[in-house]
Amino acid sequence: MNESLIEIFKEQPGGIISGEYLSERLQISRTAVWKQIQKLKEEGYDFEAIPRSGYRLNASPEKLDLQKLLTGLNTKVLGKNIKLYDVVDSTQRLAHEAVTKGAREGTLIVAEQQTVGRGRMGRVWHSPRGKGVWMSLVLKPVIPLQFMPQLTLLTAVALCRAMKIIVPTVEVGIKWPNDLLIGGKKVAGILLESSAEDERLHYVIAGIGTSVNLGVEDFPSDLLPIATSLYIASGQKVDRVSFIQAFLEQLEFLYELYKEQGFAPIRTLWEVFSVTLGRTITIRTPAGTTQGTATAIDEMGALIVLTEGGEQFKAYSGDVEFTHK
Ligand code: BTN
Repeated sequence: MNESLIEIFKEQPGGIISGEYLSERLQISRTAVWKQIQKLKEEGYDFEAIPRSGYRLNASPEKLDLQKLLTGLNTKVLGKNIKLYDVVDSTQRLAHEAVTKGAREGTLIVAEQQTVGRGRMGRVWHSPRGKGVWMSLVLKPVIPLQFMPQLTLLTAVALCRAMKIIVPTVEVGIKWPNDLLIGGKKVAGILLESSAEDERLHYVIAGIGTSVNLGVEDFPSDLLPIATSLYIASGQKVDRVSFIQAFLEQLEFLYELYKEQGFAPIRTLWEVFSVTLGRTITIRTPAGTTQGTATAIDEMGALIVLTEGGEQFKAYSGDVEFTHK
């Protein structure tokens, strides 16, 4: 039904079409026409109601095109199998489910919208329709469980590099372990979840949420002071397909490098993007809260903090807050 309403508008681009005409063409009541228009607005269609004349379709949502994504993708494994959804609860959940059904390494789950996007520390990840890149990637690295933090840092580097390729003007940095910031505001977050037994990893789901084309009106007021998007930061809309391709290509390159040479080269690249090292921070970990200066990351990917009392503290996971002094 929606399809035909949209088709009528597409017959006359920019035209004003009366509710009466729509109801006759679609053989539905004027109220039903109004309801369809409201539903389409929720899906991202921009309809303008022109008093006493009808409706005009000003813009249609930009949808991810799976064919375009696959055709232009220059990888060997990552993203070779992509499942694209419209609305899901969480791409993380779907990716875990896909693995239990035999999904191979590199399988990617992408959605236009998530209703219960998962963030770190049990937070909800704001994932409005058609504006971001909400995706989960299946990885099956043959590494011990305690190497997981390295993969998190590797993913963050790949994401930064993809952003610099697609929007070269943005100054993106990594707040340990995996928040990507532009001008101090969060533009992307990474959530790695794994399944392991006896310290051996079965698989990892790398969940990546990037606020790509969200405008200020797309963020709830509590997020506005702390969140941004590539669009807000650069003033230009970003092609989400090219962004996903760039990310997968960068990730595959770094993942290969990691498998061949270990964490050392990734660590060096991570340091280039770090906005954490040298800063005075408060870090909350499962072991408690510590204050000090972030001095380095070690060979495992742990953050080394020099406390005010002169002690060295290592964090393998946690939440960092910059302390302004
Ligand atoms: C964070 O808290 O910074 C991590 C956010 C991770 C969000 C992404 S969006 C795609 C994937 N699916 C989810 O439910 N979460 C991750």
